[in-house]
Order: sequence, then structure tokens, then C-alpha cells
Amino acid sequence: MIIQKAEFVTSNTDVSKLPVADKPEYAFIGRSNVGKSSLINAITRKKGLAKTSQKPGKTQLINHFLINEHWYLVDLPGYGFAQTSKKNRAIWEKFIREYLVNRVNLQCVFVLIDSRLEPQKIDLDFCYWLGEKGIPFLLLFTKADKQSIVKGDQNVAKFRKALKTWFEEVPAHILTSSETKLGCEQVLSTIDDINAN
Ligand code: GTP
Ligand code: MG
Repeated sequence: MIIQKAEFVTSNTDVSKLPVADKPEYAFIGRSNVGKSSLINAITRKKGLAKTSQKPGKTQLINHFLINEHWYLVDLPGYGFAQTSKKNRAIWEKFIREYLVNRVNLQCVFVLIDSRLEPQKIDLDFCYWLGEKGIPFLLLFTKADKQSIVKGDQNVAKFRKALKTWFEEVPAHILTSSETKLGCEQVLSTIDDINAN
């Protein structure tokens, strides 16, 4: 897929104020700092479309981007951000979950996982929750450029193995890097395929 147009639409903290749900939608979710906003910029080849930061907790709203005037890409706040109050964290997490459960045009959730790490409980728990709710998702392993591909593949295999105890069929995954653009074409062709069906 060629991205001709990628435009910011809205930022929201209120599920009732989201754009009308009349186009296919794909959401990026994962721990704070995992690289959600960076990967959105890499995929759309538009630096600065989604705001990024070295500090976790940068994205605090549900951000909608309209791609090729046809589908939405959504940048979500990260989960598990430690440097905020418990109350704040609970409010965000409720809000994100409410969005994921109720958004009728949501085609697929992309769960981003740091490819440098061994499986983390918080990520596995989040995947189980999506499974429980019957929300379709795929796995995007991030920051592949930060270590050898072999090491990344090992962590991917461990994560898939951990999910296997819960899922009959573990969702597909893509190893990505916002720096080298590894996997970006594959993410777009996955979206293309879903849009076509
Ligand atoms: P929150 O909005 O805080 O939840 O974070 P996020 O998941 O949107 O992460 P963000 O895209 O802001 O990236 C966090 C940091 O990781 C930034 O310093 C990025 O430059 C860096 N980063 C993200 N992706 C990559 C990658 O593929 N490779 C490398 N080397 N650095 C990356
Ligand atoms: Mg972000």
C-alpha cells in the first residue's frame, strides 16, 4: 500500500467524542515507551505525525489519524506507565479498555512488544484480556535494530510460547524497527488485506 495522505484528525479523552465510526480502524497499543508513536510515523513515513518522546507517558490521549481518506490509524496512551498516580493510571486504563471493547469499526488491534525483553507479565495479561473479550489482535515486536535479529527472534519465540498456554492459535507477529523501517511494509500489507475483506 502506498500512503498518499496521512492527517491528524482528533485527540480525545472522551469515548463519546471519537470520530464517527464509519471507516475501518486499527489501533496501536502497548507499554509506555515501547515505540507506538514512532512506528506510526515510520509506517506513514511522516515524521512528527504522532508525537514521540524518550520519556514514557508521552501519548495521553486517543489520537486518530486518517490514512488515504479511507481508514483510521489510532495512537493510544501506553499501559503500565509507573510515573503517574495510581488513580490516573486506573482512569486511563479504564478509558482505553472502554474504547477497545466498544469501538465498532475497530478491525484489529496491534499490540506492540519490546523485542529486547523476555516476555513481560503486563503484556501477556493484556493479550489474555483481548482474547477474553474476543478482540482481534496481532503482535508487533519493536526496536529490532537495538539488538541482533537472532536475539529478537528468540524473544519473539518465548513470547509466542507463553501465549500458547492460553491461545489455541497464537496471532501472527511482525518484527519491526522504526529506525530501519523493518516490517513497515508488512504492517501496511496486513492492513490492506483486512481492508480488502
Ligand atoms: P508513550 O506514548 O509514552 O506510551 O510511548 P510510545 O510507545 O509512543 O513510544 P515512542 O514512539 O514515543 O518512543 C519511545 C522512545 O523509543 C523514543 O525515544 C523513540 O525514539 C525510541 N524508539 C521507538 N521505536 C524505536 C525503534 O524502532 N528503534 C530505536 N532505536 N528506537 C526507537
Ligand atoms: Mg506515544
